[in-house]
Amino acid sequence: MTVGLLEDFHDFEPVQDDFLAAVLSGLTAPQKSLPSKFFYDERGSKLFDQICDLEEYYPTRIELDLLQNHSEEIARYVGSNSHLIEFGSGSSVKIRTLLKAMTDPLSYVPMDISREHLLEAATQLASSFPELPVIAICADYTSGFSFPDLGQGKRTGFFPGSTIGNFLPGDAEKFLAGAKDILQGGGMLIGVDLIKNEETLFAAYNDSKGITAEFNLNLLNRCNSELGANFNTQYFKHSAFYNSPESRIEMHLISLRDQIVSIAGHSIGFSDGESIHTENSCKYSVSGFQSLASRAGFNPTKVWVDPENLFSIHYLEA
Ligand code: AVJ
Repeated sequence: MTVGLLEDFHDFEPVQDDFLAAVLSGLTAPQKSLPSKFFYDERGSKLFDQICDLEEYYPTRIELDLLQNHSEEIARYVGSNSHLIEFGSGSSVKIRTLLKAMTDPLSYVPMDISREHLLEAATQLASSFPELPVIAICADYTSGFSFPDLGQGKRTGFFPGSTIGNFLPGDAEKFLAGAKDILQGGGMLIGVDLIKNEETLFAAYNDSKGITAEFNLNLLNRCNSELGANFNTQYFKHSAFYNSPESRIEMHLISLRDQIVSIAGHSIGFSDGESIHTENSCKYSVSGFQSLASRAGFNPTKVWVDPENLFSIHYLEA
């Protein structure tokens, strides 16, 4: 199928099938939880873009600086004649820096779970780089789907933003091992947020404008609009803190009273102060992440880190 300026669009129709099932299973467990991948409906994707512009949210800014400051060297690691496959492409902002530094990219393959956002971003990118074939894939890259044939050429994965941090370390390793199969001996460029002082981490997930809180609470709005649930978001509050032994930020939604919420005919009780765990954002040391990548079968050959040791970009050979 050809969609406007895109070379191709593959739609694996993620989410629809499993949102209700995931919500019901997550909210009936002893520790209630909702999977963080469901943050990214249209509004959630826009709120996330706003988070990325916040002063307190350093990862986006620092990673973009790293990509810009080292674009030529990074492009050399990627090589010419490579397909660039992005996991969770969002607004496709960061790839632009890399594309500008590259000589002859074979194609850009953005993958995202959020269809409208993906199509808009992919189309815009295609119009900025008219020579570049753009093949958009709407899929949940954490679930199995048949990756399209891209023809010959090296494949390089691009997984910026420390989205890998949403996985617990064991799952991150499994994800990387799966990505390695897609990359067919190519490489992976991956952004990883670093362990640092707790104040900086806390501020990044508790911004003063309350955008992160809105992003978190939007999960409940989404349950209301897509599953006909009756969450009152005023009766929940955003909570984010650093779990130091596990080296991760945890986000939760805390019930502000005893309440019963109905979701597609099911009644779910919440006690005052009870939490729904909505996200993990795991942080690593450079060497800790390199070991994880090695266990997944990659060879970590290069890492770029900013002078303040806030964020890292790794090149991993598949
Ligand atoms: C997109 C998963 C990298 O964990 O920092 C931002 C998502 N959550 N603020 C992160 C997020 C709250 C973000 N990742």
